[in-house]
Amino acid sequence: MPQNPHPRLAGQFALVTGASSGIGAAVAVALAAYGAGVVVNYGHDLDGANATAKVITDAGGTALVIKADVSQEDQVQAMFKQAIEKFGTLHIVVSNAGIQVDSPFLDMTLAQWQKVIDVNLTGQFLCVREAAREFVRRGPQPEVSKALGKIICMSSVHEVIPWAGHVNYASSKGGIMQLMKSTAQELAPRKIRVNSIAPGAIATPINLSARDTPEEEKALLELIPYNRVGDPADIGELAAWLASDEADYITGQTIFMDGGMTLYPGFADGG
Ligand code: BGC
Repeated sequence: MPQNPHPRLAGQFALVTGASSGIGAAVAVALAAYGAGVVVNYGHDLDGANATAKVITDAGGTALVIKADVSQEDQVQAMFKQAIEKFGTLHIVVSNAGIQVDSPFLDMTLAQWQKVIDVNLTGQFLCVREAAREFVRRGPQPEVSKALGKIICMSSVHEVIPWAGHVNYASSKGGIMQLMKSTAQELAPRKIRVNSIAPGAIATPINLSARDTPEEEKALLELIPYNRVGDPADIGELAAWLASDEADYITGQTIFMDGGMTLYPGFADGG
């Protein structure tokens, strides 16, 4: 983990769901690099969570691994309770855990639909609500953070780009957009900032199948004007900045970090 000379999150505590791999792991490591103590949540992959925590602690940071299935209210509440018992409070919650269960629409089962909505959307509802409750309970700490608390929802370019074969996933991300905006509107008077990060194609396990062969990678790059697949660390840096006082006047926004995927490159020489 890079040592950061500018600990803009010093004295703060963060919780990152789905931090056992991919974007969540990179976000947890980045928040720690900027000085936050971090809860590394995982659903199934204890080894992955421990690996994330080791990167943090090896660099002198603070990490606490907690298991919870974000789609289960009792588990989310138990996780927040444990985190608050250990750290005293939380200042930053990154609601990141997400899954894809892909299927052609005509064959999509209710179970496939429900599973993705439960984890990606209901899971974010539960974590955003518990985060906001904790920020309100704790009250202001202006010496640590201008805002009462910062919530970052991990969305996707698919909150706006329709995605055939992934209707459950795209629907969950569209839902996250309104979850984020509506909670941002409701919580802004309390000085809680709620924003989303919408990554494009980032090199993580979730999209391995789209990058498996050189042909697949080439097809993927055709959707990315900037001509590279994103690095999880790109998202980590953005999350650390968005959670900091430097971004104190940003709320209710989705920040797309996608190498231009949402520029609809198919129209560059068509339409
Ligand atoms: C999906 C990835 C996909 C990317 C761009 C993400 O939200 O999880 O599988 O590569 O969007 O389509």
